[in-house]
Amino acid sequence: MVDAARSLTKDSSLTRDSEKAAARVGLRSGEIVIHGGKPLNGSIRLRGAKNLVTKAMVAALLADTRSVLQDVPTLSEIGVVTGMLNAYGVEVAAPEDGVLVLDPTNVERAQFHEIDALAGSSRIPILFCGPLLHRLGEALIPDLGGCRIGDRPIDFHLNALRAFGAVVDKSYEGIRITAPDGLRGTNIELPYPSVGATEQVLLTAVRASGVTELKNAAIEPEIMDLIAILQKMGAIIWMEPNRTIFIEGVDQLTGYEHRAIFDRNEAASWAAAALATGGDITVLGARQPELMTFLNVFRKAGGAFQVQEDGIRFWHPGGHLKPVQVETDVHPGFMTDWQQPLIVALTQAHGTSIVHETVYENRFGFTDALIEMGADIVVHQDGVASVTRRVPRRRLEQAAVITGPTPLHGADVTVPDLRGGFSYLIAALAASGTSTVSNLGIISRGYEHFIEKLSALGADFVYEG
Ligand code: EPZ
Repeated sequence: MVDAARSLTKDSSLTRDSEKAAARVGLRSGEIVIHGGKPLNGSIRLRGAKNLVTKAMVAALLADTRSVLQDVPTLSEIGVVTGMLNAYGVEVAAPEDGVLVLDPTNVERAQFHEIDALAGSSRIPILFCGPLLHRLGEALIPDLGGCRIGDRPIDFHLNALRAFGAVVDKSYEGIRITAPDGLRGTNIELPYPSVGATEQVLLTAVRASGVTELKNAAIEPEIMDLIAILQKMGAIIWMEPNRTIFIEGVDQLTGYEHRAIFDRNEAASWAAAALATGGDITVLGARQPELMTFLNVFRKAGGAFQVQEDGIRFWHPGGHLKPVQVETDVHPGFMTDWQQPLIVALTQAHGTSIVHETVYENRFGFTDALIEMGADIVVHQDGVASVTRRVPRRRLEQAAVITGPTPLHGADVTVPDLRGGFSYLIAALAASGTSTVSNLGIISRGYEHFIEKLSALGADFVYEG
């Protein structure tokens, strides 16, 4: 089972030349040495969104027949979910590149130590609760992993499960959830439109008896894609204005065939890389509707883009980049996962930019390394009072004030989390001189074949996988 996870974890991009070069310069595993200051030019292709694919894999557990998921990227996070599903008896096969076949016909109880070994590196195990309660009457959730970007509590998830009639017992091993009287449709209003809690409710309500009304739901495009998958499986789900979702439970769901929505976080990351390095990158597979908010900010910052038949071309049109004010928010706002790569580009804007983080309470830690590389960034723990806030409702008020342009110079930096880590790659590519970025394994959780893509875009680097 763990082997299945490992085989999906390995980034196949490592070339023999790169291995030899890495040996010559004495690089350690998981490190890249980047010689920066060169624009990235060329095209790369996206595949399905990590933040949909992993949930779609969990949804397969609800069916009594096999599902087929297409456009699945090679990511370590998907290896973890594969391992979890294997532990519960779901067979996961990859008959060809980008295709997963998930067969849940022999679902069985897992050994706690098996799931515990995998869960510590991911947030996805919490989403197994509803499907496992329906299939096995019990769910064991070990301590969760995922990026360290704040407290990341699971109270919305547990309260929602309790509302369906589940009983939650906390033990030293983790959380044991049972449903002695089955799961019943219910009315839930989330305190905040949490992506994960909305998915939790969807994955539980589709087979609970009766109707569930979910108020203040998250409506991210990946959630809409998950709803599309559930509908293909036989679920009855409809939406009303103001973030309200209704789910009418059904007795049985069958497997789905689905092509995953593209990864808009990866698209925004490469767009920011084009801007920060003065380059020109066509991101094949990117679509305009899901990126509209990002595209507006990209344009305001001085970036140019062109929507094409099969992707979006992003480039630096010359001249000065401009400062922007941005607040992260739930969809359709500016995603919290877009601010880290954008901030690198904003270090080159002429003037002062302000980025407020309203989704997570600790998502500017990555800026320390950018400051070390020459950026002028000041993080205000309580936000910037003088700025008119569009999202004043949360106490999470951290703001980063970025003053530019400041030349970036190479440094040795360690990846702290997924999006922050990718922003280090961008900074190293934009910087003059040489940088070493280590702990790259975290980036493989969410960026498929990023080493191959850097190579295709003309980056000058040496890598040790
Ligand atoms: C998802 O995390 C994504 N992860 C995140 O992407 C993304 O940043 C986030 O949604 C927002 O878009 C996955 O899809 C695997 P939330 P999730 O529940 O579902 C608080 C990446 O880099 N909250 O919407 O965990 C929470 O602390 C990752 O790809 C509670 O208080 O996010 C946060 O402040 C990082 N209690 C806010 O809600 C809860 O029970 C939003 O979290 C749940 C959440």
